[in-house]
Amino acid sequence: MEQQDVVESFAEQSHPDVLEEFDRASLGDLVEKHETPFMVLDLSEIDYQYKSLQAALPGVKIFYALKSLSHPELLKRLKSLGSYFDLATIGEIDLVESLGIKGSHCLHSHPIKKDKEIKRSLEFGCNRMVVDNIEEMKKFIPYAGQVELIIRVGFRSKQAVVDLSRKFGCALEELPILVNLAKDYGIDVVGLSFHVGSQSLSSMTQANAIRSSIAAMKLMNGVNWKFLDIGGSFPISYQEEVLSISDFCAPVMEALSELPEDIEVFAEPGRFISAPSMIEVVSIVGKAKRGAKIWYYLDDGVYGGFSGQMYDHAIYPLAPLKPFDPTGEFHSSVLAGPTCDSIDVVAEDIELPEMFIGDVLVSKKMGAYTIVSATEFNYYPKPKIVVVEDIFDPETDALA
Ligand SMILES: Cc1ncc(COP(=O)(O)O)c(C=O)c1O
Repeated sequence: MEQQDVVESFAEQSHPDVLEEFDRASLGDLVEKHETPFMVLDLSEIDYQYKSLQAALPGVKIFYALKSLSHPELLKRLKSLGSYFDLATIGEIDLVESLGIKGSHCLHSHPIKKDKEIKRSLEFGCNRMVVDNIEEMKKFIPYAGQVELIIRVGFRSKQAVVDLSRKFGCALEELPILVNLAKDYGIDVVGLSFHVGSQSLSSMTQANAIRSSIAAMKLMNGVNWKFLDIGGSFPISYQEEVLSISDFCAPVMEALSELPEDIEVFAEPGRFISAPSMIEVVSIVGKAKRGAKIWYYLDDGVYGGFSGQMYDHAIYPLAPLKPFDPTGEFHSSVLAGPTCDSIDVVAEDIELPEMFIGDVLVSKKMGAYTIVSATEFNYYPKPKIVVVEDIFDPETDALA
């Protein structure tokens, strides 16, 4: 998505108060205790999202995708809930290992690896790894007998905000070539995987991918198939309402009912579990009238916690903390980040009540693909993360 699109859709939303359901006094208490910019991670929200997804996908083993948010407290909470973990780098292995998570509870889902990354994964005890091409398969010749490979298939999707099959996944027709090559090398292939793209707005691509994978498994009946990994993609509401997780997963479960019973099903959700668990709190540090617009300069922007606006194409629901009259006067405003770069604009052409230096804004659904891709450009430190328990009410999004 181009930056221009982000600007226009923010303007279109013109909802005056996305925080109306929050208890502003409790948010104010946090602001008194912590200097902005900061993010608030509510662990009870993690519980709620994990349990909702598990209820919508009964029998499916959930491997949380660390890449979306890897805060140790979040990982510890998921470990205590019985979650498994999807990892992709040596850094992620080091992190989960330091938290006492076992390699046998993990899956290495990166389709491209250096030899030292394969070695580290095996040393950690994570022997399930993903491949999607011939050259990658060859890297496993020295490890035949030690690994259980999962082949990733690409299924392009126009309904996903981030189409991951553009970059990874073999064509269905290439599967027999890879399977036969593995057989020749004595490498065990035990599963298929796919990721139909992140923030998928319909589950039909996922349901179709499941059916195609089942058909492919049946065709290659000489393989000891153990797993089908249906990836991530489960959506959350940013500006627009998305399907409830149970409605989204219903067609997925229907397709999975056609899978032979002895094949285990894995999912690799990231966003659905982490996104609703964080808010970001920022302050206005500068203000200028430029033409017809009021420019507000915030103490964090797209080089920091709002980096997901660039990389993840997300637009976060955002509003001033101070209560305001939704029927009062609004001004065409720009919210800009603090760095010296002009691309560092969080929202343009947004209608806001007049605000002042020192005023605070709160942005919601900031858990996934935000702080993990933040930089310290201009030596602005990344926003710190305040971990809380039970502060948002997951049913309503309000502070409890
Ligand atoms: C291999 C893999 N698994 C899981 C995920 C998590 O996806 P999502 O956040 O859509 O659930 C990603 C996201 O990039 C991924 O690349």
